[in-house]
Amino acid sequence: MKLEARLKELGYSGEIFTTLNGRSSLYIFLKSLNLHKGTKVAISPFTCVAAIYPLICLGLTPVYIDIDDDFQISLKDLKKKWNDDIAVCIIQSTFGIRSNAELISWVKSRGSVVIADDAHSLGAEFSVSHKDVDAIYLSFGVEKSLSSKIGGALVVNSLDLARKVRDQYDKIHNPSWSTVLYHLVQPLIFPLARRFSFLWSFFKKYSLLYSGVNSFELEGLVIDEKLWVRKLGYVLESYLLFMFKNFEMVTKKREKVVVEYNHIFGKNYNGALIKYPVLKSELSHSQLKAIYSSGLYISNWYDSLIYPSGVNLVIYGYEVGSCPNAEKLSKEIINLPTGNGVDLKTIHRLSDMFHTS
Ligand SMILES: Cc1ncc(COP(=O)(O)O)c(C=O)c1O
Repeated sequence: MKLEARLKELGYSGEIFTTLNGRSSLYIFLKSLNLHKGTKVAISPFTCVAAIYPLICLGLTPVYIDIDDDFQISLKDLKKKWNDDIAVCIIQSTFGIRSNAELISWVKSRGSVVIADDAHSLGAEFSVSHKDVDAIYLSFGVEKSLSSKIGGALVVNSLDLARKVRDQYDKIHNPSWSTVLYHLVQPLIFPLARRFSFLWSFFKKYSLLYSGVNSFELEGLVIDEKLWVRKLGYVLESYLLFMFKNFEMVTKKREKVVVEYNHIFGKNYNGALIKYPVLKSELSHSQLKAIYSSGLYISNWYDSLIYPSGVNLVIYGYEVGSCPNAEKLSKEIINLPTGNGVDLKTIHRLSDMFHTS
């Protein structure tokens, strides 16, 4: 079965284009809209730099919209910052939490294009209604719901837009053999590097470890699209399909883990969240200590606004103070894991520690 057929099974019904990563998908979609330089694109800054880099490369201007306490883009702030020059709105279902359906219809009623960033929400049962948006892009990169450490896909809902995207897609190439090889060895060399520090230094020195973000992206340096926008290609697509064999099982595990966390933290999240967010301010000192000593892997999404730290905020056009809630939440967030590696016994131990603290 092809990747396209797998994604259709998950409810992605438009025309599907597979790419080397999510950012390539976003790039070809925005390019196909043929927007003039300086056109505004609304986006939340509570995201990865990779989700903004395509805008910078195309000369588009990000308009940063604050988030609500559920980490989703805020309709209130969008209305406040809205002007008719905003041609596109990118909505991200952060951690797999539902995007605001009202926001989508509000943007559509203004005649702007909506693209959903589903990088976190493949398999999350209540991701945006796939048909309400113009397009959706997915990532299969590092730490994603379905991860082969690399890969992306673009789903385009309207036939007219799909035709324009096809024109762009036909112009891009498959990854080179060295790129394919580089990504195929990542799952092998990462565990080794974690185990042996000399290997970590060696691989780092020769840039052999892929962290998901490149230095030119941190700096916002525009480089030729031929160097980074790529199709996924047969080999990496086959590898991704192979990873799909555990997807249903892992999704069910995530759902179960989310329910367990809900009991501990008194929240009511639903579905297969990719990370379970809690805020430091909601926890006592001893509860925080219990989390950090539990042995659970705490990820750093997005402990710096426009993740990771080191992003050149000036080049990315982010004005500090313009999205105060996103800034506050990025300082407070702790993400708990939900994936296959999570041992339920560890969560139960954490629960006991919480109840006795
Ligand atoms: C929310 C979000 N959107 C988009 C991306 C970009 O995906 P990719 O790494 O496949 O280009 C990421 C990457 O980490 C992300 O976290």
